[in-house]
Amino acid sequence: MRVLNLRYHKRFQMELDLRRLRPQTPALHPDYRLSPWSPELVYDHAEVKYLSFRDELDAVIFPCLGDLEGCVKLMQEICERDGFVPEATWLARYVGAGPRKIEPCGTIQAIRVHRNRANIQNIGVTPHHRGRGLGSAMVCAAVLGLHQVGVTRVALEVTADNQAALRLYRRLGFHPTKTVYKTTEQLSDDSPRRAVR
Ligand SMILES: CC(C)(COP(=O)(O)OP(=O)(O)OC[C@H]1O[C@@H](n2cnc3c(N)ncnc32)[C@H](O)[C@@H]1OP(=O)(O)O)[C@@H](O)C(=O)NCCC(=O)NCCS
Repeated sequence: MRVLNLRYHKRFQMELDLRRLRPQTPALHPDYRLSPWSPELVYDHAEVKYLSFRDELDAVIFPCLGDLEGCVKLMQEICERDGFVPEATWLARYVGAGPRKIEPCGTIQAIRVHRNRANIQNIGVTPHHRGRGLGSAMVCAAVLGLHQVGVTRVALEVTADNQAALRLYRRLGFHPTKTVYKTTEQLSDDSPRRAVR
């Protein structure tokens, strides 16, 4: 018999108040560059999103993140939204192997939801490039861009089990404001239990 299982994923909404904290200029490892938003980078952003999320729990919660086509659609939808903030959208590229082997490896975007509030969207760094300060640099660059366009409160949502992301956000001054639960459904086989005599 097929059984529908519900799974609850605990997530934290976190916030950074830019009236209290001055945005920092991102410090970037010399092997990397941050490229500002440009429409022809939409596919690079989508591919980096896919490579960053496909093996992560967030791709279970948001299946489009585990699928390249889903990431392309998501990225197109994000950049067409009214509140899309180009100043907070960055593509990180690895340039350490020379000009012929430039590799996109990080992505971040933000959506303005109110005159002075914006939400950071799924930031991702491809596995090979993690732990070099790229995630921190991209959040700082996005926050600085939001500050420049007049945003004073930056929010994001993170899965409670995502310790790497939680540490990063806390380190940069984000604090949890609310706990929410996201439900996923999973069909599984329910094998009849054998009777024990
Ligand atoms: C979360 C994520 C974006 C972090 O990216 P990252 O580039 O590894 O982040 P950073 O390098 O800035 O920080 C990671 C660690 O490297 C350390 N670090 C920072 N700068 C460094 C540097 N220059 N050299 C070496 N290590 C450095 C940090 O101190 C941090 O250590 P800690 O986690 O023990 O505190 C990345 O793990 C990821 O893409 N995960 C999958 C997608 C995801 O979950 N996104 C978040 C959704 S909310």
